[in-house]
Formats: sequence, structure tokens, C-alpha cells
Amino acid sequence: MSYFIYYVTLFVIIWITACAAQESPRNPFIVFGDSYTAEHTDPCNGPKWIRELENTWNNLSISNFAVGGACCYKNDDGPSPPITRQIDSYFEQEPVNDPDSSIYAIFVGINDLVQNEAYNDIVVCIQGQTTRLIEQAHGKQFLIFNMVPFDHSPRIRIENITEYAAEWIEKFNLELNTTISSMQRQYPNTTIVLIDTHTTFLNILNHPTDYGITQGVIDYYTHVHPDPGSDPGKLLTTGNQYFWFDQSHITSGVHDQIHKAIVAQQPFPYLPLMDPNSPSPPPHSIASSPLRDYHCNYALVAFFIALVSIL
Ligand SMILES: *[C@@H]1O[C@H](CO)[C@@H](O)[C@H](O)[C@H]1NC(C)=O
Ligand SMILES: *[C@@H]1O[C@H](CO)[C@@H](O)[C@H](O)[C@H]1NC(C)=O
Ligand SMILES: *[C@@H]1O[C@H](CO)[C@@H](O)[C@H](O)[C@H]1NC(C)=O
Ligand SMILES: *[C@@H]1O[C@H](CO)[C@@H](O)[C@H](O)[C@H]1NC(C)=O
Repeated sequence: MSYFIYYVTLFVIIWITACAAQESPRNPFIVFGDSYTAEHTDPCNGPKWIRELENTWNNLSISNFAVGGACCYKNDDGPSPPITRQIDSYFEQEPVNDPDSSIYAIFVGINDLVQNEAYNDIVVCIQGQTTRLIEQAHGKQFLIFNMVPFDHSPRIRIENITEYAAEWIEKFNLELNTTISSMQRQYPNTTIVLIDTHTTFLNILNHPTDYGITQGVIDYYTHVHPDPGSDPGKLLTTGNQYFWFDQSHITSGVHDQIHKAIVAQQPFPYLPLMDPNSPSPPPHSIASSPLRDYHCNYALVAFFIALVSIL
């Protein structure tokens, strides 16, 4: 009987080891933000930047905490948890992510602008939350997004606050840049990369046809009245002729340019972000590999052969 227990224990250990060995580790990509990043709550005519990034940097394991309408710290109790609450939620999950392979991203500011927050308070908030991730999660790799030129959005133009918005955004972006530079000096072991969405957007808005966009000013939703459920393919191609999807949101084609700008910047050349064996994997395949199944089944068969031979 004791031999039986010995063999059972031994083979269970072998089985677990065989299976676990095939679990390929990925780079955790933990993202906090608003509707420009949230995947299920807010409208777009196709995938957003984060999903497109996953197709290029295919060695990512994404945890997306972004919620549409989120500010950096305001509206703590509202339906759109701010970045501060999103990071609380991350810590409540007691994450065990390896700091050397984890990437954190913060993309926020539009809702703070719209709600008349002071730009420098938002920069201080982003700085505080980044520091928290460095000190509490030992975070080392960060992507911090600056403000998009939201002063060009249909919403801001309709509200006739273009000048106010443009000034807010300019000051915010300057302050954020200075703050990130000083954080980089304060934490030399971290890599804090500023993602310049402002320049990416202006390049497109100034040369829309270079990006297949014929409508850079008016938005798709108000002017085309599509039925989003009827034909996703048509929604994607027709929508991508526009810069703005609705009065506040960009189309999937613009999201693709954010993703391309991040990849082109090569923020973390030392991280294995791309799986060399699968240059263009299917977007949503998280299925287990055949090799792994083979090892598990092999271990399982060995286990039962051993069991039968003992009994
Ligand atoms: C994926 O990333 C993990 C964590 O950085 C690394 O250990 C692994 O080797 C990478 N896999 C590939 C196929 O590059
Ligand atoms: C927009 O604001 C400008 C300057 O404050 C003003 O002259 C103009 O009449 C306003 N337009 C609308 C539509 O409110
Ligand atoms: C930074 O990295 C160096 C070398 O890896 C290490 O000795 C040092 O303790 C680190 N500093 C901090 C603040 O983590
Ligand atoms: C940030 O500031 C540095 C130094 O002034 C400058 O070289 C860089 O272009 C700025 N980046 C952005 C995105 O504004």
C-alpha cells in the first residue's frame, strides 16, 4: 500500500511537471485607462490599439483594467473607476507577475480635461500611480501615453472650447514629459517610455489621405448612421475612411496607427515581445499548444500503466 502511495505521488509530480513545463510564460501587459483602451464598454468600428498590439507583440498576456469614462482620480465612487481604483483592483488580485517581464501602461486625461480638472493635478496623479507600481509591484517597464489632440474632436468643437482644450493639452503634455524625465532619473532601474499620441494623431490629421482617411473632421457615427450589428466588415472599412468614430472616439484605423507608433518606438528592446516562431498568429488564440497536450497525455498514460502494474 505504501508503494502504491509512493507511485501515485511520484507520477502526479511527473505529470504536473510535464504539463507545467509546457506552459509558455508570456510578458504580462497590465493596462489602465479610459474608453480609448477599454475593450467592451465603448464604441469603435473595429479593434483598438491594445488588441492590435497583441497581434504584433504576440508574446503578451494582457490584463486590461481600463473603463470608459475613467478619470485619473476623480469620481472614485462612480460607474467608471478612475486609474487609482483600477490599480487598487489590480493589487486586490494579489498579482504574482515577474517585474522583469511585466509592462504597465497608463493612458488617461481626456475625461479629466472634459471635467475641467487642473492639468497639473492629472500629471501629479499619473506620477503618483506610476510610483506606486514601481514601489509596490516593483514595476520596471512603463508606457505612459500623453494627451491626444482632443481639441480637434467633434465634441470639443461643438462645445466651442477648442482654445481652452488646446492650451490644457499643450501644458499637460509639456508637464508630463518633464515629470517622466525626472522620474526616469529618480528610478534609474526602470524604463518609463512616453508614448506621443499627440504627434501620431497630428501626423494623420495633417495628412489624412496618406492613411486612407477622407474624413478628418466630421465623425462617422453621426454622419453615416451605420447599423453596427449588421456587417462588421463594412463597418470597419467604411468607418476607417473617417478619423473620428463618434464625437469623442477614434476609428479602428487610428487605433492601428497608435499601435504602429508604439511598435516603431521599440520601447523595450531587451524583452522577448515577439514569438519568433509565429510572426502573425491568429488574434485571439490562447489555446494550449499541441506539444503541451502531448506531454500531458503521455504523462497520463504513464501514470495509468504504472497504476495497473502495481495493482
Ligand atoms: C515570452 O516572454 C517570456 C517572458 O519574458 C519569455 O520567458 C519567453 O521566452 C518568451 N517566449 C518567446 C517564444 O519568445
Ligand atoms: C464660440 O466662441 C467664440 C469666442 O468665445 C464666440 O465668438 C463664438 O460666437 C462662439 N460660437 C458659438 C457657436 O458658440
Ligand atoms: C538597480 O539595479 C542595480 C543593479 O542591478 C542594483 O544593484 C540596485 O539595487 C538597483 N536599485 C534599485 C533602487 O532597485
Ligand atoms: C520631451 O522632452 C524632450 C526634451 O526636451 C524632447 O526631446 C522630446 O521630444 C519631448 N517629447 C515629447 C513627446 O514631447
